Amino acid sequence: MKAVEIKPDIYWTGAVDWAVRDFHGYVTPRGTTYNNYLIKDDKITLIDTVKHDFSSITIDNIKSVVDPSKIVNIVINHIEPDHASSLGEIMKLVPDADIYITGKGKIGLDRHFDTSKWKMNIVKSGDTINTGKYNLLFLETPMLHWPDSMMTYVKEAKLLISQDAFGQHIASSSRFDDDFTSCASASELEDAVVEYYANILMPFGALIKSKIAEIEKLGLDIDMIAPDHGIIWRREPQKVLKMYLDMAEGKADPNIVIIYDTMWHSTGKMTLPISQGIQDEGIDCKVIKLRATPMSIAIKEFWKSRGALIGSPTLNNLLYPSVAEFLTHLRGLRPKNRITGAFGSYGWGGGAVKNAYEEFKSMKLETVEPGLQVHYKPDLNDETKCYEFGRNFAKKVKEYHQQFE
Ligand code: FEO
Repeated sequence: MKAVEIKPDIYWTGAVDWAVRDFHGYVTPRGTTYNNYLIKDDKITLIDTVKHDFSSITIDNIKSVVDPSKIVNIVINHIEPDHASSLGEIMKLVPDADIYITGKGKIGLDRHFDTSKWKMNIVKSGDTINTGKYNLLFLETPMLHWPDSMMTYVKEAKLLISQDAFGQHIASSSRFDDDFTSCASASELEDAVVEYYANILMPFGALIKSKIAEIEKLGLDIDMIAPDHGIIWRREPQKVLKMYLDMAEGKADPNIVIIYDTMWHSTGKMTLPISQGIQDEGIDCKVIKLRATPMSIAIKEFWKSRGALIGSPTLNNLLYPSVAEFLTHLRGLRPKNRITGAFGSYGWGGGAVKNAYEEFKSMKLETVEPGLQVHYKPDLNDETKCYEFGRNFAKKVKEYHQQFE
């Protein structure tokens, strides 16, 4: 790889991580990139760094444009190690550089590096710096998705450098949406955006809406959005803004996902007539077995569908562990505007279905009750109940979905 000019004298100098498949627990079957950007101006300015393992790559990419020792300013939009852990290596080259960072960012950076000799400049929303022909405007975006987060808008380039927001975990030799070739289709790129949003940004929908409204109020003219992961939005920056607004509003397909696990195939067997009942109501249905599916994919499928049925056998009067893990993970993501139900088989006293509803209620999700329990193994009579359970749930999902149309 080498530096890529994305705007006049503004370069992508990041790294492509083709091999990563587990990004702090989030599966990344397509790999990812760590994007950073270099402004070659009177005051050479670097915006963000990369994951530490890729320090030499970003330094080589910078060298292909300028002498790294000539960097004057370093903007740290976000301190998470995939973006800031190379800072120590960069600072060895330019110990006198001015660092621009939020107050919360400085607190975090101080915990990762000895910053006592670094020139740290705390910035707030609305602050600007001039690099020569370019003016940079900082926009704090606290909790999108860390307290320290901010974005940098390069006014004369109409470029929003958005850190994690609007990113995707995709390794590609293409840098832009309009020359993107590593995925099969635009819909695969969109799917990667949804997966990223569901797993990282789902809890922050209200903040996303207000931040996008703030950007609109500021009247920023944006014709390119350059995130810190994946593809740069050159052809359709407004498309990803619209996708984020829709997701922040809780947009979902009028579909149902069944997310389940099973011990001796009884709960698994229930999914067949339930999904048939759903389909016979004219609703698309996807079935996800948890131990066969990475957590981040299950979360994405939950988020894409208006309705979700959770299937769990009872183990020691509780949810099956993989289902409990999924629901705990989901609770942390604070989902909204979804309707849920639960089913499962049991041998003695039951408990899993009751536990699942307790979880739904703690998340303040809409529920369809009662759930459906089957003693040991479903017989023909139980299969009929499962079918009707699926049909009834599908009807409720259709009714519930109407309010979002
Ligand atoms: Fe890509 Fe929040 O780090």
